[in-house]
Amino acid sequence: MLNIVIFGPPGSGKGTQSEKIIEKYGFAHISTGDILRNEIKAETDLGKKAKSFIDKGELVPDETIIDMLEKKLESLENVDGVIFDGFPRTVEQAKALKKMLQKRGEDVNVMLNLEVKRQELIDRLLKRGQVSGRSDDNLETIEKRINVYGEQTAPVIDFYKEEGTYRPITGEGEIDDIFGRICEAIDSVK
Ligand code: C5P
Ligand code: MG
Repeated sequence: MLNIVIFGPPGSGKGTQSEKIIEKYGFAHISTGDILRNEIKAETDLGKKAKSFIDKGELVPDETIIDMLEKKLESLENVDGVIFDGFPRTVEQAKALKKMLQKRGEDVNVMLNLEVKRQELIDRLLKRGQVSGRSDDNLETIEKRINVYGEQTAPVIDFYKEEGTYRPITGEGEIDDIFGRICEAIDSVK
């Protein structure tokens, strides 16, 4: 069982690369952002709560996200690996993930940090906004999300450095070249 955290600021390519990882390795994909957007579409209580945070570019409280993640993790059966995309977003979430996995005798095997310059993130997200229909892909919210990333999410990097599972990945250039670097990192822990 391989547990992979795909990490990076908004627009760094976590979703795009997750799809390629699934295609090649057949792992399960847990995208907390996708789960939240589905909850919003279905107009559930969780979705209603999450919408106000997402629209402002802020983070949904840890307790809500951790609870949601644990339920999703428990629903998975017979998988060789899991890709955590968009989670953990805070050090609190990283600690909770470690505990959850420990209960199953597992741990995060590798944390892939997609490194992309700020201006490139903004350019990519503005471009995505033209087709995504996402309420948070507009310039004001994009800038807010990148700032929130710097303040609340970037400290997660130090957590995984201490864990010894941190792997920086150059997230700029051709999608397939980035994927090649990711595969090297995954194959080194498989
Ligand atoms: O991961 P993604 O970029 O799709 O997340 C979109 C939004 O969902 C974030 O900007 C944030 O508002 C919310 N989110 C969150 N906590 C997570 C994942 C997503 O608050 N762990
Ligand atoms: Mg995503």
